[in-house]
Amino acid sequence: MKTTTNTELLYKENVLGNYGLPPITFVRGRGVRLEDDEGREYLDFCSGLAVTSLGHCHPNLVSAVQEQAAELFHLSNLYRNEKQALLAEKLNEKAGGSGKVFFCNSGAEANEGLIKLARLYGQEKPGAEGQVYKIVCADNAFHGRTFGGMSATPKPNVQNGFRPLVEGFSFAELNNLESFAAAIDDQTAAVFIETIQGEGGIYPATTEFLQGLRKLCDEKGILLLIDEVQCGIGRSGKFFAFEKAGIEPDAIGMAKGLGGGTPIGAIWMKDEYAGLFKPGTHGTTFGGTPLISAAALAVLDTIESENLLQNVSQNGAYLLEALQVLKAEYPEYLLEVRGEGYMVGIQLSESPMDLVTLLRGKGLIVPPAGNNVVRFLPPLVATKSDIDEALSIFKEGVQERAAQ
Ligand SMILES: Cc1ncc(COP(=O)(O)O)c(C=O)c1O
Repeated sequence: MKTTTNTELLYKENVLGNYGLPPITFVRGRGVRLEDDEGREYLDFCSGLAVTSLGHCHPNLVSAVQEQAAELFHLSNLYRNEKQALLAEKLNEKAGGSGKVFFCNSGAEANEGLIKLARLYGQEKPGAEGQVYKIVCADNAFHGRTFGGMSATPKPNVQNGFRPLVEGFSFAELNNLESFAAAIDDQTAAVFIETIQGEGGIYPATTEFLQGLRKLCDEKGILLLIDEVQCGIGRSGKFFAFEKAGIEPDAIGMAKGLGGGTPIGAIWMKDEYAGLFKPGTHGTTFGGTPLISAAALAVLDTIESENLLQNVSQNGAYLLEALQVLKAEYPEYLLEVRGEGYMVGIQLSESPMDLVTLLRGKGLIVPPAGNNVVRFLPPLVATKSDIDEALSIFKEGVQERAAQ
């Protein structure tokens, strides 16, 4: 029997019990592999929940952090730093070229920035007199755990116990344009959606829906805000997942994969709205520090130099197809396969935890999502042979669970 480790005891006595933690302690990571404190190796298809985009300890990221740490860690945002400026330039290029970027520390914080943008936009609307502030989000969305993020996340486990929430959020059905049109009224300032819902169970917004939503927002004179925190930075096979629809959002929230494991969040907004944020209206101590910006620059450079978007598109399509074939073999257990690139969800006929635990025992780390979904979120560097290895373990697990 496994003995209780010191780390396990320290957790029990000192760390808040808000996560249901499995009995395992990871001590080392390299590429797609993780190693635990008993020397066992695992294929990591969780990627720190879509964060370690270059895998663990990619040499480009390690050397960028080491070099920057030896030069200049931190400055407040009261002063300029070159790395933040270079990173903003890169993100601006990726987003379409004519906007501005604000840096923060997490996905929830990025989304708070988007919500604040919607408020500022609504306040400035001619004749609005402070009455235009509502935001329409999607059913089943996840936008974070801050008060704004929670209010935009219509899930009992996220909201219960924390009411009253922030006023003005309403919800419509994803991929149903009429539902969104009906939810918009003359107090609405913005529509706010994930291009691919992540925590909700991997539900992509369709191209037609995204294009229709862009048109609807233009007609109504409201902002289209897109949360690319989980699906952005190459995970879908495009740099931003909404690119598949050829649309331009008014503002974008990003985080997770952007830092490759260093904590960063960012919002990009079109130039015409950037002027709404004046000195003193918004800010944060740690956003865009030299250290974290240098790390994110290394992530973006490596996505380009290693052709990772192509890697994700090609091998993601292969993964999706292989999972569809497996679903046809186990139609009673595997109910649906959804996703794009390296953001794939498999809907099961049961809660995902038994399969997740079984797969971990066989050396494959995958996270659950929603009530009945297992996610594959490999790092963008995962090769076809990594995918094959994960598929072979997954098949074994599915076979065992389906026979229960
Ligand atoms: C789409 C989306 N938005 C926002 C967040 C919140 O990000 P963070 O946990 O960095 O605050 C998440 C986290 O899973 C997310 O998936």
